[in-house]
Amino acid sequence: MSLLGRELILGVGGGISAYKSAELLRRLQDIGFGVTVIPTRSSLNFVGSATWEALSGRSVNENLWNNVHEVPHIAAARAANLIVVAPATADLLAKIAAGLADDLLTNVISASAAPLILVPAMHPEMWLNAATQSNVQTLRSRGHLVIEPDEGRMTGEDFGPGRYPEITRIISEISEFANIKSDLLGKKILITAGGTREAIDPVRFIGNHSSGKQGYALAKAARNRGAEVTLIAANIDLPHLAGVRTLSVGTAEEMQDSLNIEFPECDALIMAAAVADARPVAKSAHKIKKADLQSIELEANPDLIAEISKIRRAPQVLVAFAAETGGLDASSIEVANAKLINKGVDLIYLNDVTDGAIFGSDQTSGILIDSNGASTKCEIQSKDTLADLLLDQTLTKLG
Ligand code: CTP
Repeated sequence: MSLLGRELILGVGGGISAYKSAELLRRLQDIGFGVTVIPTRSSLNFVGSATWEALSGRSVNENLWNNVHEVPHIAAARAANLIVVAPATADLLAKIAAGLADDLLTNVISASAAPLILVPAMHPEMWLNAATQSNVQTLRSRGHLVIEPDEGRMTGEDFGPGRYPEITRIISEISEFANIKSDLLGKKILITAGGTREAIDPVRFIGNHSSGKQGYALAKAARNRGAEVTLIAANIDLPHLAGVRTLSVGTAEEMQDSLNIEFPECDALIMAAAVADARPVAKSAHKIKKADLQSIELEANPDLIAEISKIRRAPQVLVAFAAETGGLDASSIEVANAKLINKGVDLIYLNDVTDGAIFGSDQTSGILIDSNGASTKCEIQSKDTLADLLLDQTLTKLG
C-alpha cells in the first residue's frame, strides 16, 4: 500500500541500464510510493515482467491492447501522482517530446497530468546528438524534469555523459522537483482532535468549542511528511482525511480507552483535543425537566495526557496544548510552564482563547514552550504552518 499522494508509475525504457531501475523501484517504495511498472516492449529484452511483478507486488502490463474494456491507459494516468521514466532512451525522449503515443507507456504519459520525470541513459553519442538535445530542451521547456545523466564508462570502452545516474541523486532530485517530504517516514504519530462531550442526559452535554481544525492540520501535515498517522477524533464535523486512520470517540473516557490502546505503539502523541475536565456523576437516562436542572453534580475527568506520560518510554515525545484567557503575558506563560511540568510533556503550545478566539478559526497564534526552557513566539499564522512547526520540533526531539 502506498501513502496518500504517493502513487507512481515507473516507465522502463529499452536500455541496458534497465536493471538499475529495480534498485530505483525499491528506493521509491522506501519513501512510501506504491509503484506500478510499465515497461516498453523493447525493455523486456533486458528485464522481464516477472522481475517487475515480483518487486512491485503488482501486475505488469506493457500492451495497450490488453483489457481494453478497462481503458487501462486512462485509469493508470489518473491514478498516478508521479511518472518516472528510467531509463529514458533517446527513442522515448523523442516520442514524448513529439507527443507520440503508440504503446501503453506513451499513452499513459500523454494522458496524465502528473509531474513527469525522465532519467535518460544512453551512449554519449546518442545523448549529445543534436536531435536528442533538442528533445531534452523541449521537454524541459514544458516543465518536465530531465535529470542529467552521469558521466563515466559505458557498457563498452567508451566514456562520457550518458550513464544512468546514482540512485540517491535520482531520489533527491525527484523529491525536490515534486516537493516530497519524507522526514517522518517510518514514524507513528498519534494525534487527538476536537472536544469531548460528557452527557448530562440524552439531550444535553458538557462540551467546548474546539473545532478539531488544529488536530486535523497536524494529521494532514504528518501524513504528507510520510508518517503513519492515527487520529483520535472527538465530535468533529470535518471531512475524513484520506490516508489517516481515524478513530471516532465521544467522551473523555472513550478517548482515554483509545489512547491506552494506541499510545504504546506510537513515536509521538500530540494532544490537540480539548478534553472536558469534568463529567456529570450520573447520566440521566431520561431528559431532565428544566425545573430539576438547577445544579448538576460533577466529578473530575482524569487528565489524559498526564496519565499517559506516566507510561511513556524513551524516546516517545509528548506534545500538549494550553488554552488560556487574558492574553499571552508572563502569568499565562507561567501557567503553561506548570502544565508542561505537571503533565510530563516535552512541548506545550500556549494560545490565548479569550472571547473564543482560535476555536474554529483557520489561523492561530501563541507561544511554543519547550521543556528545555526554550520558547518560540508564533505570530498569527495558519494552523497548517503551526502543524509543520510542531512536527519539526517533535522530530528534533525524536532524534
Ligand atoms: N488535557 C487532557 N486531559 C484533560 C484535560 C486536558 O489530556 N482532562 C490535555 C489537553 O488535550 C491539552 C492539555 O491537556 O493538550 C491542556 O489542556 P487545558 O484545557 O489547557 O488545561 P487543563 O489541564 O484542562 O487545565 P485548566 O483547565 O485548569 O486550564
